[in-house]
Amino acid sequence: MPQRETWATRVGFILAAIGSAVGLGNLWQFPFKTATNGGAAFVVFYLVAVLLIGFPAMLAEFSLGRRTKRNAVDAFSRMGHRSWRIVGVLAVLTGFWILSYYNVVGGWVMRYILGSATGAYFDDPAAYFGAVSSGPEAVVAQALFLGIVVAIVALGIEDGIERATKVMVPSIVVLMIALAVWVATLPGAAEGYAFFLSPNVDTMIANAGSIIPFAVGQAFFTLSLGMAIMITYSSYVGRDDNLIVDGASVVVTNTIVGVLAGLVVFPILLTIGADVTTDTGGAGALFVATAAGFGSVPFGRLFGIVFFGVVLIAALSSAISLLEVTVSYANDNFDVSRPVLSIGIGIALFLLGVPSAMDTAWLTWFDNFAYQVFLPLSVLLLIVFVGWVVGQEALEELLSGAEGYRTFGTVWLWTIRIVVVIAVLATLALGVNEMFLVEDAAFFEPL
Ligand code: PFF
Repeated sequence: MPQRETWATRVGFILAAIGSAVGLGNLWQFPFKTATNGGAAFVVFYLVAVLLIGFPAMLAEFSLGRRTKRNAVDAFSRMGHRSWRIVGVLAVLTGFWILSYYNVVGGWVMRYILGSATGAYFDDPAAYFGAVSSGPEAVVAQALFLGIVVAIVALGIEDGIERATKVMVPSIVVLMIALAVWVATLPGAAEGYAFFLSPNVDTMIANAGSIIPFAVGQAFFTLSLGMAIMITYSSYVGRDDNLIVDGASVVVTNTIVGVLAGLVVFPILLTIGADVTTDTGGAGALFVATAAGFGSVPFGRLFGIVFFGVVLIAALSSAISLLEVTVSYANDNFDVSRPVLSIGIGIALFLLGVPSAMDTAWLTWFDNFAYQVFLPLSVLLLIVFVGWVVGQEALEELLSGAEGYRTFGTVWLWTIRIVVVIAVLATLALGVNEMFLVEDAAFFEPL
């Protein structure tokens, strides 16, 4: 078996993990879930969920990945628990499933960059979305997006993923800041900030029960948890890196980009007078609502190109991480070269994504299933494994390179054992209820 690859630098790992975390989850789902779940009240719950549940869960994935230095499936046998491999299989399948339709949305984003340049969506944003979101053209766009992802992953950890994300992540942050400054000059800016940033305590209390599971689900998705990504990425990390500090950097940067997304999107929407709480549901919301905004603000074309350009970079650096999960598994187990594996898996992903590209109803169904069943189930089993089955060993791994953090480590272990398990169980129960038991359930339209 050839020598397993590693990150060339610690910063390379952190940037790749940030690249994975920062994606459509931040730039699109976060602002729109905020809009439909009570504005700033949702933001408060989301921040708590990220800190109290997402961050500890991420550290759990990190400790498992680095301990075993294997892909997400074989990691479990390396820990001496072969039967738990099924959890790894579930996580890999979850990632594969999600990536199949994520590529389709990546294809839409590419079309929107083009549409911004030509002004094609300015007259009728809803009709443009209808034209590009499904059908043969969407299949072609999906293939193009996936082609770029496959090419980067085929180049490997250091030459492909690390090199690409080193450029991508700083670009995302800089461009988002530039956009936020730009929209601050729009007439609807103050109203947008108020909606996004001043929580209504009454709404928070009244809707806590329904908002919290959404906030927890969003925390997992946005931090790329439950898809085996963080297990895989951390399996290429050295023993003396401080995983706690690395994880904190990922969480903080990811949150900053999510908040920046809100600071960009809401002023635009309120400037054009959109009713943000109702105009925003459904698969096309980001595209239709923000495109309508670009159609009527000064310098709309340039604005649109930059905005959708950032979305594209963010989506690419996330999709790369997800393809890497399956490629890493195959690479550890079969004597086939990385480029061939990347292309082969890319073709399988493409085929699974065709229904979503042909009909957005399929895409929404795939997404709902992932969000409400696959993701929470996968996180739950993983947390039970790390927390209860291999607890002390995981803790020792987390503290390797972070020796001064023993108290933090003990608190972490009990947090995943109790708090995270309860929160995920509740989220899963709600998801299953919505998916299977409630007739005409109003899905929380993630895409
Ligand atoms: N954290 C990513 C995001 O917020 O978009 C989640 C993700 C989704 C990662 C799809 C990778 C991916 F292919």
